[in-house]
Amino acid sequence: MTRFRIGDRGRPPEHWGSALGFVLAASGSAVGLGNLWGFAYRASQGGGAAFVLLYLLIVLLVCLPVLVAEMVLGRSTGHAPLLAPVTAGGRRWAPLGWLYMAAATGILSYYAVLMGWTGRTLLHALADGLPGDMAAAQTFFASISSGGDAVLGHLLSLALTGVVVAAGIRGGIERLSRWGMPLLFLMLLGLLLWASTLPETAAGYRTFLLRWDAAKLLDPATIRNAFTQAFFSIGTGIGAILAYAAYLERRSPIPREAASVVAMDTAVGLMAGCVTFPVVASFGLGDVVSGSTVGTLFIALPTGLASLGLSGRLVAVVFFALAYIAAITSAVSLLEVPTSSLMDRLGWSRRRTTWLLVLLIAVLGLPSALDVGVLERMDAVFGGVVLISGGLGLALLLGWGAPARFLQDLRQSGSSDALVRPLLWALRWLSPPAITVGLVVSVLDLARSWSG
Ligand code: TRP
Repeated sequence: MTRFRIGDRGRPPEHWGSALGFVLAASGSAVGLGNLWGFAYRASQGGGAAFVLLYLLIVLLVCLPVLVAEMVLGRSTGHAPLLAPVTAGGRRWAPLGWLYMAAATGILSYYAVLMGWTGRTLLHALADGLPGDMAAAQTFFASISSGGDAVLGHLLSLALTGVVVAAGIRGGIERLSRWGMPLLFLMLLGLLLWASTLPETAAGYRTFLLRWDAAKLLDPATIRNAFTQAFFSIGTGIGAILAYAAYLERRSPIPREAASVVAMDTAVGLMAGCVTFPVVASFGLGDVVSGSTVGTLFIALPTGLASLGLSGRLVAVVFFALAYIAAITSAVSLLEVPTSSLMDRLGWSRRRTTWLLVLLIAVLGLPSALDVGVLERMDAVFGGVVLISGGLGLALLLGWGAPARFLQDLRQSGSSDALVRPLLWALRWLSPPAITVGLVVSVLDLARSWSG
């Protein structure tokens, strides 16, 4: 199979500086606000240990094969997300490419708003300190999540994302991930040690992560939360990793790389939960978080930390700085989807494409910046249902539409049949039915929550 290479006006085609660079960038895409804020928010909606268990099962049995398929599709075609499905499966797969473009653009439009909140909270913790009580925290959150502050945070975060993407794969995205990911991991380890010294650590885990209620395994809201969290956190299903894999050299061992990304992402999600829940439980804020909304963590965490004085403030600074680094390495992967697609399709230069898209997404994100209700709906649609459909499309394309491509690419890069066969089997027989169930339950649950 000869590969196409996404070009930029006569310059040599781009590629990663090293295999490690790709893995770091892909982990950077996976580890994001979804791990820090999404995991805590969804885990505290009542599912408890059943949610955690379902989430882990979906990650391992469903998302991992889909992630491998996504990487194979990118590497074997050399095309960006818009054209890769057509190249692999023919004309009738064209809508899948458009779905990727729409989903990545839609997700980034509100993700940048969340980044803005994160950055604003960081600055506040640095410059002014933390809100003294719950009421002050609520007032502060209301001020950053609406009006001029929210719009400004959204625009600045998007611009920063644009700077990295415009600088290219090696000079922008890989460079950022190389220092960002190790730093993030160190900061998280530090926070974890600190959290283990809090008085209510065990109670925090018991309340949110370990409370077992078998009936929750069949609860539609828990199932939707687990599917959404798994796909969103790994960041598979809409071509972000596909876009990265298109710049990959032929030889790297994709299954192993995918496993590293999944392990890293899951570890960070669990570690972050181990930091946030003790804080929340230690300071008697449990009720605020159960049945939480997107804003809860931004209210509960600073309030809890404020009661610790200066050390709490320091922890808040580290936590929100870490969250911002995690967010930007994810946002760049989302922006790379439409950017590489338009470069690929129209032959535009990287710079021009990036900034045009930043402009478009800035406008699309305004409603989310101005109204948290809109942001929540965007998340439920693009970061939930559309994302999961994209994952289904991927499994069907490589499992059934072009299985020969899947086998050939992995074999050529040295993966043994003992590994490739079970992966293909999962992609054909496990992922599609499981995702279909998850999708149907999610759509029904979403419709119920909107009508109720
Ligand atoms: N995974 C990231 C997070 O957890 C967000 C993200 C990056 C994403 N790329 C994605 C989500 C692609 C869905 C699809 O915050």
